[in-house]
This record gives sequence, C-alpha cells and structure tokens, in this order.
Amino acid sequence: MSVTVRVPAKVNVQLAVGGARPDGFHDLANVFLAVGLYDEVTATPADELRITCEGPDAGQVPLDRTNLAARAAIALAARHGLAPDVHLHIAKDIPVAGGMAGGSADAAGALLACDTLWGTNAARDELLDICAELGSDVPFSLVGGAALGTGRGERLRALEVGGTFHWVFAVADGGLSTPAVYGEFDRLSEGVRVPEPVASQELLDALAKGDAAALAATVSNDLQPAALSLFPSLTDTLDAGRAAGALAALVSGSGPTTAFLTRDAEAAGAVAQALLASGTCRTARVAPSPAPGATVL
Ligand code: C5P
Repeated sequence: MSVTVRVPAKVNVQLAVGGARPDGFHDLANVFLAVGLYDEVTATPADELRITCEGPDAGQVPLDRTNLAARAAIALAARHGLAPDVHLHIAKDIPVAGGMAGGSADAAGALLACDTLWGTNAARDELLDICAELGSDVPFSLVGGAALGTGRGERLRALEVGGTFHWVFAVADGGLSTPAVYGEFDRLSEGVRVPEPVASQELLDALAKGDAAALAATVSNDLQPAALSLFPSLTDTLDAGRAAGALAALVSGSGPTTAFLTRDAEAAGAVAQALLASGTCRTARVAPSPAPGATVL
C-alpha cells in the first residue's frame, strides 16, 4: 500500500520584507499564490527511512535526513510515538533552489502522505504547526490557493482569487540559497530604516477581481534587488520577458527563477517561446494559478 500526494509550487506576488529580527528571521507581508507546477510525494512502508527522487533536477536533491520531506516524516512520527520507517519517493517537477518553494512542497507532501499512510489523522492545526516548524513557506504549500503570510510567512490568512492568472517561469542555470539572499538584503539595507512590511490593498483587490493588468501594476518583491545583486544575469531574463509582452516581470521569492504574468494562456505560450529563444534561461514553463494545496491522489 502506498499514498501519493500532489503539491504545488508558489510565486510571491508581493514579498514585503522588514528588518532582521533578533532571531535572524525577517517579518514579512508575503502574498503567496500557488501555481500549477507540481511535485508528487509517494509514501510506502519500508524497513527504514529512505528518500528517492526522479526528475530533471533530481541530482541536486539531498537524499539524506536533511531533506525537508524526511524531516516532515520524522516530526510526525515523533509526535505519535512511531518510527519513521517509510520510503518517500519524490517525483520532482518544481525547480530546485529556485524560489518556488519546491523543498517546502515536498515537506508538506511528505507530511500529508505519511499522515494518511500511518492513519495518524492529525488535525489540520497540528499539520500546520509541524509545517511551521519545518520552514516558513511549508504551511502555505499545505493549504495552496492564495494567502497572506505574516510573521516569518508562516501565519496564513486565505485570500480570495477571482479568476485564473497565467504565468511563465524562467528557470535559471543554477540556484540561490535563501539565507544568502536575505543576507544580501540585510547588507543592501545597512544604514537604511526598513519600513514595517504591509500588504498592498490594491494588490489584494486585483487578486480578488482576477484582474491581471491590475495585479501586474502592483506586484513587488523586496528581495529582488538582493537576488539581482547575487545573480546579475537575471536582469537580462527579466528584460527578455518584458520585451516579449509580459504584463509584469519579477524574481520569484528569493530566486533565481523569474516569473512573468501574462494576459492569457496564449500570451503565456508566446512569452515562454521568446524566453527560450532569448538564451537567457535554462528552460521556461507555463503555469496557471491559483492551484490547490497538497492533495492526496
Ligand atoms: O524558514 P526557512 O527555513 O525556509 O528559512 C530559510 C532561511 O531564510 C532562514 O534561515 C533565514 O535566513 C531566511 N528567512 C528570513 N526571514 C523569513 C524567512 C526566511 O530571514 N521570514
């Protein structure tokens, strides 16, 4: 018997970042939108905890207990007095170290898959607590849709989305470490008073209306200057997407994946083609949003 869970990637349509807190994290106003690129995590009983991974970037995924999916299984098992003896297989389609919460998706997927396989039937709040222990973006991977994340991004309020938004994601050659990007954010804001992060009401209204042009006018990512500072060639990718007619171009989360909002599915296809032809990215993927959270298949 085995259980497979499908989990979406995310893009941050607003990522407002406050100053560094005493614990090293940053307070955020983080507007998450789940997008239709998915990993699938399959949990099967085994003699001991084991992780395997397939997909184009599988070679970059750690297969030991540092993998967030392994840590999710260990955390759930520990709370219920079980041994985490499970084989977790990750079919990986979300870019690795790309700023699209792929590792967080695998953690949320592993948690739900193990909870189902083991019959632990944890309450939603318990699952969300474990997710928050595992990482700031993991709770959102569980719930999907669209949500405003505050605190370090783990405290969620579901948001209304009034239509489908069509995206293109340009996958860069290489990854960026999230702590390194936050570190660069701190370096760039030295001596500057960083304002309290606040969600943009215009942006929330654009999401609620399903209005792509209005959303494009309000998207923002405070980590973008830091990501561009560490990965300057992303500027060329952003320019190529804009030149191809994207309504908005931004770095996804801590990058280096770049995200392009387009008018409709047809425009998304054209922007993806142009990005590929530009030679400024490794690959380009189209995906609609919002997408559902972690789902048992
Ligand atoms: O929560 P998570 O483990 O995903 O965070 C990874 C790193 O990103 C943290 O160690 C921290 O350096 C940075 N981070 C942050 N503020 C946040 C979220 C993450 O500084 N709100």
